[in-house]
Amino acid sequence: MPVDLNYLRDRLPGRRIEWFDSIGSTMTEATRLAAEGAGHGALVGADEQTAGIGRYGRHWHSEPESGIYMSVVLRLPFGIETLPLVTLALGLAAAEAIQKTTDLNCDLRWPNDVLIGGRKCCGILTHLETPAIIAGIGINVNQESFPPELAAVATSLRIAGGRIYKREPIIAELLLAIDSYCGILETQGRDPILRMFTQVSSYALGRRVEVDQGDTILRGITAGLNSAGYLLVRDNHGKQHQIIAGGVRPCS
Ligand code: BTN
Repeated sequence: MPVDLNYLRDRLPGRRIEWFDSIGSTMTEATRLAAEGAGHGALVGADEQTAGIGRYGRHWHSEPESGIYMSVVLRLPFGIETLPLVTLALGLAAAEAIQKTTDLNCDLRWPNDVLIGGRKCCGILTHLETPAIIAGIGINVNQESFPPELAAVATSLRIAGGRIYKREPIIAELLLAIDSYCGILETQGRDPILRMFTQVSSYALGRRVEVDQGDTILRGITAGLNSAGYLLVRDNHGKQHQIIAGGVRPCS
């Protein structure tokens, strides 16, 4: 079933909502709207993406009417140095919205993958389109299965919870949570975001991980986040590394 736009407009009064049956990527459309001057909070969503974009130029699997595919225009009074904190805040918002609407326990893997039972159910992309940030969020809601290359690492709320979920309450809750966490960052600074992320994420501290850095793999134990929002990893020789980008995976 397509998303019920009346529900979204009722729960999110005053918000610009552009919804598409099918689109290449909501990122492209939100970027275009931002360039035209769309205001803070403007939402671009679609029931299907034919060219969904993931991190590191990967494809984002976007099965029709099964998932949430949305991009939000953020206009925040921060410089580029705060972008990693916005990224963490978006992960906190997504985890909270999923937990509130489904009762499923969520974990966060730095910088902001939302996991249930160790598998990814939500991915987030942040593009800086100065002066706006485009936050792209994909949530696997009612997928029953995934293509073979994703099957071992992905899950959906339906697979995890054993039931079908309406997408509209999750979308509404997510937008309200984004407002709330970005508001915390704006009014209280970075410390509460760093603290909450460290509390929620089993990856932040004391987790054995490997980090794919393109040409090398770093193995070590996570040692918290620094004030910039980057993950710290202590390697097997005791040397501490700041992770700015790179896929973080658990390892034994
Ligand atoms: C990741 O690789 O973890 C980030 C995935 C982000 C996917 C979302 S779906 C909505 C928005 N539109 C896109 O093309 N990508 C993001």
